[in-house]
Amino acid sequence: MEYRRLGSTGLTVSEICFGTATFGWHTDEQEAHRMLDRFVEAGGSFVDTADYYSSWARGSYAGRSEEIIGTWLHATGRRHEIVLATKVCSPVGPLPYDRGLSRRHIMDAVNNSLRRLQTDFIDLYQAHSMDNSTPIEETMRAFDDLVRQGKVRYLGCSNYTPWRLCKALWTSDRLGLARYECIQPYYNLIDRREFEQEKADLVREEGLGVIPYSPQAMGFLTGKHRGSTQAPDDSRGSIDRRMQGYFTERNFALLDEMESIGAAHGRSMAQVSLGWLLSNPLITAPIVGARTWDQLEESVAAAGFRLSPEEKRKLDTLSAWEDVK
Ligand SMILES: NC(=O)c1ccc[n+]([C@@H]2O[C@H](COP(=O)([O-])OP(=O)(O)OC[C@H]3O[C@@H](n4cnc5c(N)ncnc54)[C@H](OP(=O)(O)O)[C@@H]3O)[C@@H](O)[C@H]2O)c1
Repeated sequence: MEYRRLGSTGLTVSEICFGTATFGWHTDEQEAHRMLDRFVEAGGSFVDTADYYSSWARGSYAGRSEEIIGTWLHATGRRHEIVLATKVCSPVGPLPYDRGLSRRHIMDAVNNSLRRLQTDFIDLYQAHSMDNSTPIEETMRAFDDLVRQGKVRYLGCSNYTPWRLCKALWTSDRLGLARYECIQPYYNLIDRREFEQEKADLVREEGLGVIPYSPQAMGFLTGKHRGSTQAPDDSRGSIDRRMQGYFTERNFALLDEMESIGAAHGRSMAQVSLGWLLSNPLITAPIVGARTWDQLEESVAAAGFRLSPEEKRKLDTLSAWEDVK
């Protein structure tokens, strides 16, 4: 496993990040613990969750993913081997105080995450999305207090528009507060526009880390949905409406090219999708999802895999967003 520096910080992370939104949904506690064991044995350190996971799943609730990680940390004593990332902002209960980025909710949420995770600190605490109804100064001051208290080591954000991200960075700078050191955007070979058009220049300019989510386009880039017109019920892809737009001739042609590049390296299409991201120096670590160790093992084995410039150019051309209306 190769390690990379998270943006401009001194923190290094495994270049494959294990995303745990399947915990308490497609993945029960026993399998989740097995996956965490093997991930660490394979050299992985970077684990991503959120207080909101996996609230959408039948029989589950917000905080279940964190709980499952917490019981594993408690049972194994491996906290020091893990860089633990979680998030706040999405609804975790019915009250107006159970969501957002107010000081009130951030202070409650961090204590609940620490309790469920059975740890004294969170390595990377991320705003899950924007909360434009809370003044940015309030949010950044609350986050900064958590860093000073030692509950949180670094800050990050996800799903921010560029102007809001820029304003957050400016606010931290102006007030001398801890800043967002990395972003978590939706970014993969199918959907490149959001990151490349809006955020890549800002990331480069500010030296931010980038940990893209859905790097395998929720399973589509593994090639397993070829020949279908939609993701099967109860798959990862079935709960996100973005997936409905994936089943196009253009994207199937992209899969064909990925398959042929993979064949030349003895690599799967899932690994090519990760290799494409890992070949981009702006990317710190893709956050891979998996329901079983078998799936995760394939992703972990993509560590160290890089495309040649010619292979990358071919995939860039087939997935170019500039000419898509
Ligand atoms: N910040 C945010 O708003 C946000 C949003 C979404 C996700 N995330 C984070 O990013 C993580 C990953 O997101 P994602 O699940 O969308 O990532 P992904 O890596 O693009 O997709 C993972 C899914 O693809 C399928 N898959 C993975 N490996 C496979 C293999 N080798 N063969 C066949 N199928 C395979 C599995 O789904 P099936 O088996 O069900 O098909 C798996 O759950 C999450 O766990 C979470 O930590 C963050």
